[in-house]
Amino acid sequence: MEHRTARKLAQVERSATMALADRARSLQQSGRQIINLAGGDPHFGTPEHVLDAAQNALAEGFTHYTSSRGLPELRKAVADRLSRRSGVIRDPEHEVVITPSAKHAVFASLMAVLDPGDEVLIPTPSWVSYGQMVRLAGAQPVPVPLFAADNFTLSRELLEAKLTPRIKAIVLNSPTNPTGRVLNASELRDIAEFSAAHDLVIISDEIYEDIVFEVNSHRSPAEYSECADRTLTVSGFSKSYAMTGWRLGYVSGPRELMDAVLKVQEHSVGEAGSFIQRGGVAALLGDHSPVQHMVEQYDRHRKWAHGALSQVPGIECALPEGAFYLFPDISALGFSDSHACAQWLIDEAGVVVTPGSAFGPGGEGHIRLSLAPSTATVEAGVNRLCDVLSMPR
Ligand SMILES: Cc1ncc(COP(=O)(O)O)c(C=O)c1O
Repeated sequence: MEHRTARKLAQVERSATMALADRARSLQQSGRQIINLAGGDPHFGTPEHVLDAAQNALAEGFTHYTSSRGLPELRKAVADRLSRRSGVIRDPEHEVVITPSAKHAVFASLMAVLDPGDEVLIPTPSWVSYGQMVRLAGAQPVPVPLFAADNFTLSRELLEAKLTPRIKAIVLNSPTNPTGRVLNASELRDIAEFSAAHDLVIISDEIYEDIVFEVNSHRSPAEYSECADRTLTVSGFSKSYAMTGWRLGYVSGPRELMDAVLKVQEHSVGEAGSFIQRGGVAALLGDHSPVQHMVEQYDRHRKWAHGALSQVPGIECALPEGAFYLFPDISALGFSDSHACAQWLIDEAGVVVTPGSAFGPGGEGHIRLSLAPSTATVEAGVNRLCDVLSMPR
């Protein structure tokens, strides 16, 4: 039978990072010594008080459906955090939805906003899933390539240059995976004015909001008066609290948009797991010293790895301002492209990194290294990379 699968999926690619994780696992299983610097999964354990809260919930039989919006106490904790951090006021009753993962929060937001034929601006390099999710929603991603020479700075001119009458939304991600940039006040002002001028919805993925290396440097577009009523703010627990396997996130925004997000959630995943959400409450309301401890370690990793890579002739590498990735420019090293470089690094160094091309136009010529593994793994991986990349080929 022809066309057993949906035609729209013909344009959708597998997640490059998940495919690489599979590759690293199968090489390890085949007995090869592999150092995996491809994944965005913190090596830390989930904080004890979060584990306790979920275990207690299980022990007391808290194992049934919750409201599709999520537990009221978790929604309140999310709304309180938003107002405390950035002054953004959202009604926990109607303007916050707890989702099974930030990934689903982005997906539900796009599904809530997009019609077939719509287009979505995505500054790139960007996280691998945005463009594919836009396609799953039947719409078209329009990449806005940023330039390494400008430290991947976003500007109104770059956005205007890609504007078409079909653009309905823009996806932002700060702190940014993979570049480690944190959007500054001038970039956010440009985005606010641009999106208001063209009446666009902003989907702002702030999953790395806690992982910044200058205090309070993370700002959300929802803070800008032009944006409060047009922004869906996404975040989650995976990165800040080392809770990747829990699959817990959230999205907040103005009621009109959130009513639509809720429809997507109710008719797809229903809601996030009940006892998982109890863990989320403990994470948001409990002791934050584990988060600080993790950020301090990422800070040490970024400084050390940045220093080491900067010694390799031909490599240019900006010091990340947030998130836990390094995104060195390897275009002067003579590889045909970033995929060839990543492949060569697996073969020659046994180190798995992500080719920059996976992050869209603007990412080519770079590789992404994750600083989320343990210090020993980061040091061993980066040392091996530096050794092989310094040798004549
Ligand atoms: C930018 C970005 N958004 C969202 C996610 C997904 O987060 P979650 O684990 O909550 O689905 C990731 C994970 O790597 C990410 O890098």
